[in-house]
This record gives sequence, structure tokens and C-alpha cells, in this order.
Amino acid sequence: MTVPMLRAMKSRGERITMITAYDATFARMLDEGGADVLLVGDSLGMVIQGLDSTLPVTVDEVVYHCRAVARGAQHAHVVGDMPFMSYQGSLDEALRNAGRFLKEGGAHAVKLEGGREVAEKIARMVGAGIPVMGHVGLTPQSVHAMGGFRVQGRTEEAAERVVAEAHAVADAGAYAVVLEGIPSNLAARITAELDVPTIGIGAGPGCDGQVLVCYDLLGLTPDLRPKFVKRYDEWFARGIDATQRYCVEVRSGAFPSAEFAFGDGKRKDEPAVPAVVQPIVAGGYGPRG
Ligand code: KIV
Repeated sequence: MTVPMLRAMKSRGERITMITAYDATFARMLDEGGADVLLVGDSLGMVIQGLDSTLPVTVDEVVYHCRAVARGAQHAHVVGDMPFMSYQGSLDEALRNAGRFLKEGGAHAVKLEGGREVAEKIARMVGAGIPVMGHVGLTPQSVHAMGGFRVQGRTEEAAERVVAEAHAVADAGAYAVVLEGIPSNLAARITAELDVPTIGIGAGPGCDGQVLVCYDLLGLTPDLRPKFVKRYDEWFARGIDATQRYCVEVRSGAFPSAEFAFGDGKRKDEPAVPAVVQPIVAGGYGPRG
């Protein structure tokens, strides 16, 4: 999936699916599930590192996770999220940091938050061959300035501000814009006005695509139930259940049964390799051995 392909999807009226990913296994799963775009979001600070906000996340950390995601993704377009203070300083510093996501992280593009104040930086990155995805509306890196994670653009004046931000980043050369935490009618208006795709999160159905944090989508964030998140599974609860069954079986001695253990290879009826590891490596212990 490439930048021109994503733009063509907008012209054809095909919806874009974007999901966050932070490691190779999830990337492979989400890619095989059909995600068009994998975003290595700075949300990793909250879901991977257990932080209260994305602010402490560093470029090194996101680049590290990008490398893993890029290895796991076969078809999806991989976007690295530029963390707080990696692009708010000088033009040169912003450009150098953006380049790291492509050179070291294997990403195809970067994402950054903001409107007119980041337009010059977007233009410079695009000029250097780095595709940039914008992000306006509720911008989590400005959580303190916004007074919390609040829906943006609810008054007429605030709505016009979000519209202006979206135009500023698109005019600067962004190939797509994330619209986060804004009313549905405002997102639909911006989507109609922009030539580039909009990807919504908490922005209603009128966007060209949607993005969710994979941990939210899969039900791995038990303490968070934001209104805009639809959980497509309950992995946290299912993980607790699987863990409990494992603990019970280990404590009772039911696991590992003969099926999961190696014999000495002398019995005729003994399979050469236990069935569970056969697909991994015949005659061996498996990669984890
Ligand atoms: O960091 C992130 O995961 C994001 C998405 C929620 C858009 O920016």
C-alpha cells in the first residue's frame, strides 16, 4: 500500500482502514486481517509503557517499534508517529528526526500533530521525499494546553480553527490527515473540502477512513472505554481465562502431558516430534528451544 494508492482510494470512494501496531507479531496479524495502514503511534507510551500520556515517548522508542512493525507487515503502509518535541524545535531538527523513521525504522511515512505551526516543517519533509500524515482536532500531545482529552471544534469559532488547521497541513503537502475527537458534521465537512484522505478517530462516519488503537479494538484496555471505541473482541478477559487454565494445569500436573513432552526416541509408537512443534521445525525443539 503506497501513498498514491491511498489517495486513489479517496477518489474511488473506498474507505481506508488504519490500525496502530507496535510489534512484528501484531503487525503480521493486522496486515493479514486487511489493514491498509499500520500506525506505530506514540500511543505506545500509554498501551505498551503504561504512561498517563504520550508526552514522555522518545524518537528512539518509536523508531525501535517501527522496525519491528516494518518486519511484520507485508502489504500495509507503515507510518511512524513523531513524538512530542521531536518536530516542534528547529526545521533542521524536525527534518533529521523525520528521516530516522524511514532510514532506521523502515516506515513509509511519518505522522505529526498540529496545524499552521507545523506547515513549514511538513513542506520541508515532503520536499525531502518524506511523506507526511497530518493530525488535527484533538491532538494528544497538547493535552495540557487543551485542558485534557476533550472533543475539539464544538463552537463555531473552534470548528473554523480545525478546518483551517486541516487545510494548512494539506496545503503544505500532507498526503492524508487524521481527524481526532471532533463532531461528525465537522469531520464530514473537512473530508469534503480536502483533496487528500481524512482518517477519523472519534470523528464519526464521514471520513475517508478510520483508525483505532489495536489494544482498544481487541479489548486489551480493560480500564478504558471511550465512546468512540468499538471493541471487536475481549482479549484481556480471554487472556486472563487462558492464564488461569494454564496455572491450574501446571499446579495439578495436568500440563505438560505426554503429548507435550519428549521421549527418548526408543519407543516405536513415539512420534519423532510432538505434533505441536512439527509445523515449526521437524525433528527439533522449535525456535523457542
Ligand atoms: O498515537 C496514536 O495511536 C495516534 C492515533 C490514535 C491516531 O495518534
